[in-house]
Amino acid sequence: MKILRNINVPFSRNQILAILGGILVVVVILIFIFGAVWGGVKQPISFNHKIHAENDLDCLDCHPYFNEHASSGRPSLETCMSCHEEPQGESLAEKKLLEYIKSGNEIDWQRLYRVPEDVYFSHRRHVVLGQIDCMTCHGNIGESPKPPSEPLKITMKKCMKCHEEKEASNDCIACHR
Ligand code: HEC
Ligand code: HEC
Ligand code: HEC
Ligand code: HEC
Ligand code: HEC
Repeated sequence: MKILRNINVPFSRNQILAILGGILVVVVILIFIFGAVWGGVKQPISFNHKIHAENDLDCLDCHPYFNEHASSGRPSLETCMSCHEEPQGESLAEKKLLEYIKSGNEIDWQRLYRVPEDVYFSHRRHVVLGQIDCMTCHGNIGESPKPPSEPLKITMKKCMKCHEEKEASNDCIACHR
């Protein structure tokens, strides 16, 4: 210790503490920023697809449009109310749902999958005409006990790879309209 004290350090103890404190603040801020960017999507209620699949609910019960329209659609509070006006269990997640039901406020589900504005995508085309399973594009979300924080990315490369295999159009304007 004696040797240490005698070394001619350019900083005082307080300055070193200030620098370390500064570094700490920067690190915390960085973790915060990266958390927001990479932490993915946080849903208002941790929705459990698996438990509903096990209770024999079909995708169509909550995503009612994919057989007829471009979009699949997402469930309104009314859909949930048809079963949950009476509590089905005792979980914290369901208690949250009951609060929404009591207040009548729609649940602000965050979108996981979205193509850019200029890209045209139709569920009907793929699910009905193309006979492609939800899982091919969405992975096992339909059977998962909690929402994915990072959904599988649906990239142009993936769209085009399958189109090539299935001999669907890969003209730019087929997708970019
Ligand atoms: C009881 C209702 C219910 C059923 C049944 C259901 N879902 Fe969902 N689904 C939801 C809710 C609520 C969300 C929004 C919360 C979330 O992402 O977990 C959602 C989100 C999704 C999403 C993400 C949509 C997006 O981009 O935001 C996909 C994909 C999906 N479900 C696929 C399926 C598939 C496939 C099935 C059938 C195997 C299915 N779901 C059955 C209620 C349901
Ligand atoms: C056809 C009936 C039905 C519909 C419609 C339905 N649920 Fe459920 N839900 C159930 C059943 C049954 C359970 C299982 C209860 C148990 O075993 O604890 C359940 C469980 C839950 C739980 C607790 C899950 C857990 O992790 O413990 C939540 C939260 C929930 N549902 C949310 C929703 C939401 C949100 C909707 C609307 C998008 C919805 N449910 C639509 C029947 C339904
Ligand atoms: C060929 C790939 C593909 C298949 C198959 C597919 N989806 Fe999707 N899904 C997408 C893409 C791409 C988006 C984003 C679309 C957008 O931004 O308009 C999406 C968005 C969604 C959404 C959120 C937006 C909406 O449309 O309401 C839900 C819910 C969904 N899909 C459910 C399903 C279900 C259920 C099935 C099976 C019946 C299915 N998807 C099959 C590619 C697919
Ligand atoms: C797993 C395979 C698969 C994936 C992934 C896929 N598609 Fe397709 N797509 C098809 C098939 C098969 C058809 C032809 C369906 C039919 O009409 O018989 C098709 C047709 C289409 C058409 C109509 C083309 C035309 O002739 O006008 C559009 C637009 C389209 N897809 C957009 C997309 C976009 C955008 C994506 C990515 C977000 C995508 N597809 C991903 C298989 C796929
Ligand atoms: C089968 C559907 C499909 C075809 C065919 C296709 N794209 Fe795309 N493209 C997409 C999707 C989906 C995205 C958004 C996802 C991504 O960026 O990977 C995209 C993104 C892009 C982007 C990034 C800008 C934006 O819109 O977000 C450009 C530029 C682009 N495409 C150009 C082209 C050109 C040029 C062609 C023709 C050689 C083409 N695409 C053919 C589906 C397609």
